[in-house]
Amino acid sequence: MSNPATDLSQRPLRVAIIGAGPAGVYAADILTKAERDFEVSIDLFDQYPAPYGLIRYGVAPDHPRIKGIVTALHKVLDRGDIRFLGNVNYGRDLTLTDFRHFYDAVIFATGALKDAPLDVPGVDLDGSYGGADFVSWYDGHPDVSREWPLDAKEVAVIGNGNVALDVARILSKHADDLLTTEIPANVYEGLKKSPVTDVHVFGRRGPAQVKFTPLELRELSHSRDVDIVLYPEDFEFDEASDEQIRTNNQTKTMVNTLTNWLAEEQDTGASRRLHLHFLHSPVEIYDDAATPGKVAGIKFERTELDGTGNVRGTGEFVDYPVQAVYRAIGYFGSELPEVGYDERRGVIPNQGGRVIDEEGNPVPGIYTTGWIKRGPVGLIGHTKGDALETIGFLLEDRLNLPAASEPSPDAIINLLEDRGVRYTTWEGWKKLDAHERELGAAYVHGDPGLGELVRERVKVVDREDMIRVSRGE
Ligand SMILES: Cc1cc2nc3c(=O)[nH]c(=O)nc-3n(C[C@H](O)[C@H](O)[C@H](O)COP(=O)(O)OP(=O)(O)OC[C@H]3O[C@@H](n4cnc5c(N)ncnc54)[C@H](O)[C@@H]3O)c2cc1C
Ligand SMILES: NC(=O)c1ccc[n+]([C@@H]2O[C@H](COP(=O)([O-])OP(=O)(O)OC[C@H]3O[C@@H](n4cnc5c(N)ncnc54)[C@H](OP(=O)(O)O)[C@@H]3O)[C@@H](O)[C@H]2O)c1
Repeated sequence: MSNPATDLSQRPLRVAIIGAGPAGVYAADILTKAERDFEVSIDLFDQYPAPYGLIRYGVAPDHPRIKGIVTALHKVLDRGDIRFLGNVNYGRDLTLTDFRHFYDAVIFATGALKDAPLDVPGVDLDGSYGGADFVSWYDGHPDVSREWPLDAKEVAVIGNGNVALDVARILSKHADDLLTTEIPANVYEGLKKSPVTDVHVFGRRGPAQVKFTPLELRELSHSRDVDIVLYPEDFEFDEASDEQIRTNNQTKTMVNTLTNWLAEEQDTGASRRLHLHFLHSPVEIYDDAATPGKVAGIKFERTELDGTGNVRGTGEFVDYPVQAVYRAIGYFGSELPEVGYDERRGVIPNQGGRVIDEEGNPVPGIYTTGWIKRGPVGLIGHTKGDALETIGFLLEDRLNLPAASEPSPDAIINLLEDRGVRYTTWEGWKKLDAHERELGAAYVHGDPGLGELVRERVKVVDREDMIRVSRGE
């Protein structure tokens, strides 16, 4: 006779999703809505006390149009059929053995949280920063320092993706123009003191090879008192560029925007400038005798297009005196205990979301989705497609999953409590959300010259405070 606890045809399927970013939430939503003749019971874990991953700790604070996505994700988690358990770290608070004990399947949706490495001399000098770290700071990440050294007048940002634009825009904007957003007080104070005058963004390829998107590029021109500066010698197009401009509307739009800016006189005498450089490959970040150990400049090799859209070095080198360098050359996924890891790509090795072992065979009951599945590229919406594929395979495998020995939903809660883990819940997030909105509504700025400010929210940064408010302690 079959045991109802372990017979998967007789009881709800128990699934744990690790990571409550968009990929994890979409996976949970797709699984709950999938056509099926059995029940599912899903727990969605995150190391942060709050849900939404990079939407909370990556998306720039001056991007309000993301709100529609947050509202949609909120609705999913507010239905009550997915249990959120925040402030639980996979690897520290719970192991894979624990998860296997309580769940029939585990989906890793842990994203990519750190900077991709840049291998040039001087990258470790004081004043050389990872873009991801800076993003975490301005987005009020609970685990990064509250202080950020904004003491540079001239800054270089390496990379031609949307993160480079975010970093450059936040660095060049006047702090008062960010005050309507949810930026925490320490971020406003830090940016307010910044003496920055020139932010230089460097792409190693040409204007037709940028990884920005049109809206994000155009947004640069909306910053008050910031001029955009472009250089005619950087506007080179090879056959592959022409083909790309002809066949790809997005490239065409961006090249048009850039060439229009180049043609128009952009110098309005603004107090800050945002320079866009192309065909510059970073060679070295250096200090000088006056400030040993601290960034004093950056050297690039000029590049030229090789006909295929790629570039080769020209042997010509140029130096830019800057006091800070931000690397925005992509994010990178982190290795997780007890799961395979592809060191080159920073992902969990998988086939369509089924995690595979070193021999390439699927590991029963273990799945992955989102950026940790396919690498740190793509918009929030793209993680829906990942989730659909992964959940499709999970449902196909259902009756062959290694059944949990303790599938009761209470069992994991008992374990967390026994281990003293101060987990947060969806109800807790709603309390924190309401608290942050109250802080926004109650906000009074000391400078009457700024007029009446409407702030929808002010973020709580401190992890302890987040937990305390969420748990009503
Ligand atoms: C700076 C930046 C700005 C962006 N802005 C936009 C934008 O404006 N619009 C847009 O469409 N896209 C934007 N994107 C892209 C978008 O953020 C990603 O496509 C999306 O967040 C990827 O989703 P994910 O769920 O795979 O990863 P994430 O959003 O990173 O979520 C992963 C989650 O897993 C959790 N986790 C990780 N490790 C553990 C662990 N050990 N235990 C428990 N939990 C863990 C993390 O805490 C996190 O909450 C931006 C990306 C970046 C980097
Ligand atoms: N507002 C938004 O919608 C938004 C905001 C932020 C991020 N995102 C999304 O999040 C994803 C990640 O963005 P991202 O900007 O981190 O990555 P990305 O789009 O992959 O861009 C990385 C950039 O870094 C450059 N680069 C890589 N290695 C380099 C090196 N060694 N030296 C010099 N340059 C180097 C790349 O140049 P090559 O092309 O030559 O490799 C590219 O220009 C993207 O899909 C992005 O669209 C969206």
